Amino acid sequence: MDICKTLEDMNIVVVGHVDHGKSTVVGRMLADTNSLPEGKLEQVKANCRRNSKPFEYAFLLDALKDEQAQGITIDSARCFFSTEKRNYIIIDAPGHIEFLKNMVTGAARAEAALLVIAADEGVMENSNRHGYLLSMLGIRQVAVVINKMDLVDYSREVYEGIVLEYSRFLKKVNITASSYIPVSGMIGDNIAANSTERMPWYTGMTVLEQLDSFISEGLPADMPFRMPVQDVYKFTMNNDNRRIVAGTVETGRLAVGDSVTFYPSGKRSSVKSIESFNVSPPEQIMAGNSAGFTLTDQIFITRGEIAARSDEKPPEVAARLKTNVFWLGREPFSPGKRYFIKIGTAKVECSLERVGRVMNASNLNSEKKESVERHEVAECILNLKKPVSFDLTDELAATSRFVLIDGYEISGGGIITGAMEDELSDVRHQVMIRNTNWIKSSISREDRAYRYKQRPSLIIITGPRQSGKKTLARELEKVLFQNGELVYFIGMGSVVYGVDADIKNRNKKNREEHIRRAAEIINIMLDSGMILILTAIELTSHEIELIRTIANPPDILTIWTGEKVTTDINAELTFGGNDNKMYVERICRNLADRGIIFKGI
Ligand code: GTP
Ligand code: MG
Repeated sequence: MDICKTLEDMNIVVVGHVDHGKSTVVGRMLADTNSLPEGKLEQVKANCRRNSKPFEYAFLLDALKDEQAQGITIDSARCFFSTEKRNYIIIDAPGHIEFLKNMVTGAARAEAALLVIAADEGVMENSNRHGYLLSMLGIRQVAVVINKMDLVDYSREVYEGIVLEYSRFLKKVNITASSYIPVSGMIGDNIAANSTERMPWYTGMTVLEQLDSFISEGLPADMPFRMPVQDVYKFTMNNDNRRIVAGTVETGRLAVGDSVTFYPSGKRSSVKSIESFNVSPPEQIMAGNSAGFTLTDQIFITRGEIAARSDEKPPEVAARLKTNVFWLGREPFSPGKRYFIKIGTAKVECSLERVGRVMNASNLNSEKKESVERHEVAECILNLKKPVSFDLTDELAATSRFVLIDGYEISGGGIITGAMEDELSDVRHQVMIRNTNWIKSSISREDRAYRYKQRPSLIIITGPRQSGKKTLARELEKVLFQNGELVYFIGMGSVVYGVDADIKNRNKKNREEHIRRAAEIINIMLDSGMILILTAIELTSHEIELIRTIANPPDILTIWTGEKVTTDINAELTFGGNDNKMYVERICRNLADRGIIFKGI
């Protein structure tokens, strides 16, 4: 026998209408698998005799809870048992709210569920609500346990009636039950052993067999590698050029020589070394550990990206997310308001685009609403200001969770169930391919910044025709140049008649293509370390987003020239007159304040 073999763990949640026998089924499983502490069963039975009340298997759970409550780490709603295949952690679901909170924030995570329905009462309100809840939480492996079969004379008709009724309901919430098991928790039928005598007509699995045939998510270390980037540390002393990418490994493993891709940017490199403080570096880093590694190429990545292995399934990237949100904030979660979403190490501004189904977590009533109130669970579409990288809850739960921040407070949490298209999805995809295939330089962005004494930056000057964009751009370029900066002014016209010579018609679609190409040029020039000034007529906020997506400028300043802003752009500076000297001064001050140029002018 392999004594060292460690069994995998699986969390199972047990839900169902009140008194339908959840605790009895669990108690019976513990007893029939010999998982109770020595003498416990006898002790509880003796207790019952003493108090002249009939013994119940459910009492076993209470007795265990009392015992566990004395320990600090074990929470009272769980109990444990093992089969030959794995260790089970059974969550006898506590109050709805606590349970939900734990599930969405990641304190608890069930991979599968047992939904108990009593045969004598049949499908009740909570049978449906709990089914719905499981669907909201992204738990797709559900077995329906039809309990108290002894009370209906082990009737096949009763069983089949419930199967028919409940499978119709589950279908509506997108769940296909793994099985419908007729049991008697009290007698012990079909829990750990087949009830061939009393229910010869049932040839399916027992509850225990069903548990063992649920598919496990597996050990975190065996899943695809995911490390949200916490920080990139640079060492510049004594010619030490290492840049260490640091974070906590959520899942998977990574070794020296592995190719890693960062998302959402799609930038790629290989692991040169694994770093650790004080101790000698390990060969590989694994799920659950804080880790740091260096790369063979000088690529620019930032906090908030997810590091994945290039040979494994990539995470999703999107700026529109289909989610299930559990709201805790005093103020309702409403469209039109500004929130922040925190997912992994990324923190991005977001808004609520649309609410789908909403369910009240205290009474589990479901309705259609415009916003989400405290203690409600809702299907929500979120719109993010910038794309983020994540996984879907069905695939990798750890990187599918997020929290929502309203002001300074964590006001909700949730899981991502789908990535949705937005206007820039195609462009973003193209950019990712470009970044993955980018031919890297050996000179880093910092090396250039150090040499040129400036950071690359994009200054966009836009506004109506004849509003003085080019004049201002030229004067700004001149002042920066005279100050020793590496600066270049590029007008849209220079792109349109050159790089875009193949585009003849001037229409909206072509305008977008002009901007796309200009943005690709900007991307190259920014990579070279330049401060770039772009002029273009009446850019919209969508067009600025397009430039941002393609060129991904580390820094961008938008300026509107002209008395009236004629698009939906939200410019940082607006210059209505023609006092260019003053405008140039203000721009330079802005650049110095933000550390783009290192010396004042
Ligand atoms: P709550 O935790 O209060 O929601 O109840 P529960 O779903 O955990 O039910 P519990 O296991 O406490 O059982 C409720 C009652 O049903 C108890 O009196 C049990 O003895 C009885 N019961 C449970 N399973 C069976 C069964 O298979 N047959 C019969 N006849 N009674 C059962
Ligand atoms: Mg109970």
